[in-house]
Amino acid sequence: MLLITGGAGYIGSHVVLGLLDRGREVLVLDNLSRGHEDLVGKALFEECDLRDLAQVRKVLGKYPIDGVLHFASLSLVGDSMSDPHSYYRNNIGGTMNMITAMLEAGVERIVFSSSAAVYGEPRVMPIREEAPKAPTNPYGETKLFIESMLRRSFEAYGIKSVSLRYFNAAGADPKGRTGEDHHPETHLVPLALDAVLGKVEALTVYGNDYPTHDGTCIRDYVHVSDLADAHIEALEGLEKGNLGCEAFNLGNGKGFSVLEIVSAVRSVTGRGFPLKFTSRRPGDPAVLVASSARAERELGWKRRFTDIDEIIETAWRWHQKRFKGGRRP
Ligand code: UFG
Repeated sequence: MLLITGGAGYIGSHVVLGLLDRGREVLVLDNLSRGHEDLVGKALFEECDLRDLAQVRKVLGKYPIDGVLHFASLSLVGDSMSDPHSYYRNNIGGTMNMITAMLEAGVERIVFSSSAAVYGEPRVMPIREEAPKAPTNPYGETKLFIESMLRRSFEAYGIKSVSLRYFNAAGADPKGRTGEDHHPETHLVPLALDAVLGKVEALTVYGNDYPTHDGTCIRDYVHVSDLADAHIEALEGLEKGNLGCEAFNLGNGKGFSVLEIVSAVRSVTGRGFPLKFTSRRPGDPAVLVASSARAERELGWKRRFTDIDEIIETAWRWHQKRFKGGRRP
């Protein structure tokens, strides 16, 4: 049985469904502070907070766990600047408890949800795994520290791990079973779709004075189901004994500016919406684009969604289903 922490969240729930589709037995552990229990399909579910070691121990003592996929964490860059301690407690503290319970239960495999945020503001594009790690916010610092906890846990105790550094996750399950549902929402694509549905008056564009072709930030948008596939390939690599302690970037390898995403959203939905230009959002680098060559080579990762319109189309289908009736605040 596989344990998915944060399995009721955006990326975690796609991995849960991907594993269930492949006939794997899945237990989701989530404190539901951000996640939604209705998104975990037919997986077993335990409400549990990773900050409480006794709770985590209980779950690992109760079920025969063969491997962990660890998504549970706080993940808002701005939030991490104003309240870093919550990030230390949730992300680092939660992972410490998970590793403690894994050691006690003899669980030796973990796939970890890391982030492009470990790199900070690199100068060389596309970003390769060897690029300097210089996070510019506590969120990225917690992800980087957890990667080194995992490396030390491999060296000292033999816990095998894969850290997956995602760039900008986007889109939704093509079958419409799960998708992005954050409260509050801070991400570009769902906020643009909110503007399409008239749930916000305008989409705010943070800065048009960046050194890019149209002045807005460039990001690498990768489909969440492709991310899910990479997790499953990483897990299988660990199970076959092919991987020890590794880290891989996951992106599409192509950058899109905020205005290019706006125009893709307009073309996919067939609807216009107003924009409001404001100053830069603190901590946003101008350009982040991944090289995922290592994941392609070593995990055999092949993306199913390389076209930005197709990615946005899956997000749009989900967004209408989930929010049209007015669930959005
Ligand atoms: N943006 C806007 N308006 C909005 C929201 C976003 O202009 O209303 C812009 C941002 O400035 C940024 C781009 O759209 O240039 C993408 O922003 P998102 O908030 O969607 O995503 P981020 O690139 O900020 O964040 C992602 C992940 C984080 C991770 C970070 C690493 O979601 O978890 O990359 O840099 F930490």
